[in-house]
Amino acid sequence: MQSSLDDLEPIASDDVATQPGLGEGAPSPEAKRVFIKTFGCQMNVYDSERMSEALAAQGYVETSEASEADLAILNTCHIREKAAEKVYSDLGRLRDIKRDRAKGGKETFIAVAGCVAQAEGDEIVRRAPAVDLVVGPQSYHRLPELLSRLRGGEKALVETAFPDEDKFDALPDRRPAKAASAFLTVQEGCDKFCTFCVVPYTRGMEFSRPVAALMDEARRLVDRGVRDITLLGQNVNGYHGEGTDGEAKSLAALIRELASIGGLQRIRYMTSHPRDMSDDLIAAHAHEEKLMPYLHLPFQAGSDRILAAMNRKHTAAEYLRLIARIREARPDIALSTDIIVGFPGETDQDFEDTLALVKEVGFAHAFSFKYSPRPGTPASTMDGQVPEDVKRERLDRLQTLIEECLARFNGASVGKTLPVLFEKAGRREGQLVGRSPYLQLVHADADPALVGSIVNVDIRSAGSNSLSGVICG
Ligand code: 5AD
Ligand code: SF4
Repeated sequence: MQSSLDDLEPIASDDVATQPGLGEGAPSPEAKRVFIKTFGCQMNVYDSERMSEALAAQGYVETSEASEADLAILNTCHIREKAAEKVYSDLGRLRDIKRDRAKGGKETFIAVAGCVAQAEGDEIVRRAPAVDLVVGPQSYHRLPELLSRLRGGEKALVETAFPDEDKFDALPDRRPAKAASAFLTVQEGCDKFCTFCVVPYTRGMEFSRPVAALMDEARRLVDRGVRDITLLGQNVNGYHGEGTDGEAKSLAALIRELASIGGLQRIRYMTSHPRDMSDDLIAAHAHEEKLMPYLHLPFQAGSDRILAAMNRKHTAAEYLRLIARIREARPDIALSTDIIVGFPGETDQDFEDTLALVKEVGFAHAFSFKYSPRPGTPASTMDGQVPEDVKRERLDRLQTLIEECLARFNGASVGKTLPVLFEKAGRREGQLVGRSPYLQLVHADADPALVGSIVNVDIRSAGSNSLSGVICG
């Protein structure tokens, strides 16, 4: 999966009182508490939310304090070495908490979920014996059962098989929404096998959820106040879920169906592969009003030689032609991307090609990474591994260029009126924060009652990460 919330805070516990079966007000002192820390991509954010729901049905409430937790879950990311290693340092801290709590007679279970769990399995328990449970991304619906086995005295459970049953069917219903926007995983896994990427190994082959299940989940989210849904998948535009007529449906068809849900106002999707940007999806950007003018479309590198070595299945020119077609359909579309520097064999000229492509497209947003060799992937054993200092220097240059692109894109919004979906209170008293159609953060002074509404805002100033404006009178 692409991009890129590198170190999320634990999911806040501010919705504790809204969980099923807990009634109003603060949780009872005897309630079991779960701490969840989420690493990596939006799909992990979604999974953490669903794990929390599965546990809420068992009487768990969330806490943002690991030291209070009866159950601590690290929902992990394996995409780059740094993210994976961070898990082990966090496990060291959790081990100390577990020991301290044990002195006070309190039991603590430590669980590792997500892609490190899937990739490293038993190895985690060997390296970090305080871990009680390792659960892969396809098995977290089994958490309640696994926890009762731990309570029954079983130790060091590792559940990383790809089970026959569909976890989505086995999970409890979505709980009331925390916000006006929500993620909805529609597709998982990836068959593209880019040579640098662990996803095909950790998340498995492509799987698309059926349209009916997604319509159902989307309707429930909308009933509970969600207005903006981002459809998630590691290769989301490869979506081919079963329709109600038994035929496979494209992502464009799914978007059209979702757009028929009255209260749903905005639809987005991520992450896409250039090879799967079909004509009907491009056309949807022209015709489907609820589909927001924002597209995250990684190109990874600007040199055809490197793209071939990455097994990306497209050239730089093909990517540019695709962008031109998308812009023809939706001229104001905001484009976002992922880029890797220092892939094995990348020369200075290859890197210059990457910079040139960034300049040519003019991205509204981009995530950039130093290549990180991942065990078991073909690129990790390729000749021509690039030294760390060269990667660092290239990343710095690329990020400077990206900053300029963002400033230009945001700057061009000043003087415009943008419809903003307000999501929550801002840091300053009286201020709300929302999103423009282009996914820009927008701050404006506004009545808190406007959270969940789309309001026109005159944009007055732009920073590198957000816009500020005044509500239209
Ligand atoms: N090294 C660096 N970046 C990577 N990505 C995926 N695998 C690696 C790796 N081994 C990046 C890609 C992908 C994003 C989610 O993470 O750019 O699109
Ligand atoms: Fe990884 Fe490539 Fe699949 Fe994206 S398309 S998840 S980078 S293998």
